Amino acid sequence: MKTDAGFWNRSARKYAASPVADEESYEKKLAITRDYLTPDSRVLELGCGTGTTALKHAPFVQHILATDISEQMIEIARQRAAVTEIENVDFEVADIDSFQAPMESFDVVMAHSLLHLLKDRRVALSTIHRLLKPGGHLVMSTACLAERMGWFRFVAPFGRLLGLLPRVAVFSEADHLEELEEAGFRVEQCWRKDGAIAVFVVARKEDRA
Ligand SMILES: C[S@@+](CC[C@H](N)C(=O)[O-])C[C@H]1O[C@@H](n2cnc3c(N)ncnc32)[C@H](O)[C@@H]1O
Repeated sequence: MKTDAGFWNRSARKYAASPVADEESYEKKLAITRDYLTPDSRVLELGCGTGTTALKHAPFVQHILATDISEQMIEIARQRAAVTEIENVDFEVADIDSFQAPMESFDVVMAHSLLHLLKDRRVALSTIHRLLKPGGHLVMSTACLAERMGWFRFVAPFGRLLGLLPRVAVFSEADHLEELEEAGFRVEQCWRKDGAIAVFVVARKEDRA
């Protein structure tokens, strides 16, 4: 059986070599994120890929635990970290579905380009909610394909079967925001560049009713 890690392990070198698709949007997302970081922040990144974002935020926080399901992605991330002076980021292989950490241990959780790749978004959001401290923030960029590429839901299963695509779920921005609210988050910021697929969200952990 093909695992989710398998696709990403095979893609890791190419992913590492690809430039950021939209540098301006990426910089804007980094800047928005910084408003939620302090020198005391303990940060968890899920699906960190080759570690670019974690290494950029590292100088502004106490510690980042950056995790990814793919051993190859984490291997590249560790190599990148080794050639910097950064010492407050730990990279670990972990699947969000089985990730274990004490409750309420993080001030900020980041998950960029991850949620649409998961088997069960509701379980993932519930895990993140549990891991965040009260009032902590989830910062997340997610592909919401339904509005502009709804047809993708018919193509994705074949692409996955052939090993050409990862698992990809198709849902809308409205679905995404509703799922966040249902999981106990209050969306504080939501930004989508005109015509873009990715929706960038900052959501605060609220107490569940
Ligand atoms: C599109 S890449 C995004 C990487 C990085 N966050 C970025 O924005 O460049 C998606 C990443 O999510 C990871 N991933 C996929 N499924 C995962 C899971 N269940 N748990 C943890 N990471 C996962 C993949 O290995 C891959 O590195």
